[in-house]
Amino acid sequence: MQRLQDRVAVITGGVGGIGLATAKRFAAEGAKLVLVDLDETVGNRVAEEVGGVFVRADVTDEDDVIRMFQVAYDTYGSVDIAFNNAGISPTDDDSILTTGLEVWRRVQEVNLTSVYLCCKHVLPYMRRQGKGSIINTASFVAVMGSATSQVSYTASKGGVLSMSRELGVQFAREGIRVNALCPGPVDTPLLRELFAKDPERAQRRLVHVPMGRFARAEEIAAAVAFLASDDASFITGAEFLVDGGISGA
Ligand code: NAI
Repeated sequence: MQRLQDRVAVITGGVGGIGLATAKRFAAEGAKLVLVDLDETVGNRVAEEVGGVFVRADVTDEDDVIRMFQVAYDTYGSVDIAFNNAGISPTDDDSILTTGLEVWRRVQEVNLTSVYLCCKHVLPYMRRQGKGSIINTASFVAVMGSATSQVSYTASKGGVLSMSRELGVQFAREGIRVNALCPGPVDTPLLRELFAKDPERAQRRLVHVPMGRFARAEEIAAAVAFLASDDASFITGAEFLVDGGISGA
């Protein structure tokens, strides 16, 4: 299916689990890709494999964010889709009782401030074009909290969800849709790193997923491709849950 034929898509965290699966799905649906991440060597290899351009950028740095959208525009002539997806999760205990201010600030910066910067700097392109789709990666924890004590992470994702709603409403009449993607637990390097430190945590988390398993990154990518496409033309400001039933349990 070529729902994204010739649409220009910028994907942050583009070489990670969900980002890479989405890049492959977008490419299969005809999109032109700009992948953004931190590691230049890996990024260039992945961009060659998937097809597209790699930009080394730190999404917490405003100049980098401005530059990555500029590269997309200069290379392809438009910016139609922004998948603001880069994120981190503290691997140490992230309880309100123990999380230090430095960790708290870093998580807000990478997970929330980055989304603010990406939205701020992609919107001018989309407003000029009179169309665009922004998908911001939040998480199921944004709507229900976490059973595994993740205060800085949960708060950052709550911020992403609220900001996406706000922007979805604000720009609805300009043809720009903004949605918050809320995945359940997904088998990616991020989750594996968390569970490597605390293997029992995987079981504690799994118990809450009605489907009894973690998502594959490709299952999340399918939802992102839908939100990016015209099939989702009446969906904006939404919390789009792809969570194996976890938030309904
Ligand atoms: P991942 O760790 O596989 O990929 C994240 C990517 O973001 C990495 O390639 C990393 O290098 C990149 N990144 C981190 N900081 C960056 C920065 N400052 N600038 C540019 N790139 C940066 O993780 P995964 O699982 O693919 O996560 C993607 C998003 O999905 C994250 O926002 C995460 O919080 C969210 N999410 C993940 C879930 C899961 O269970 N894996 C569940 C719900 C949400």
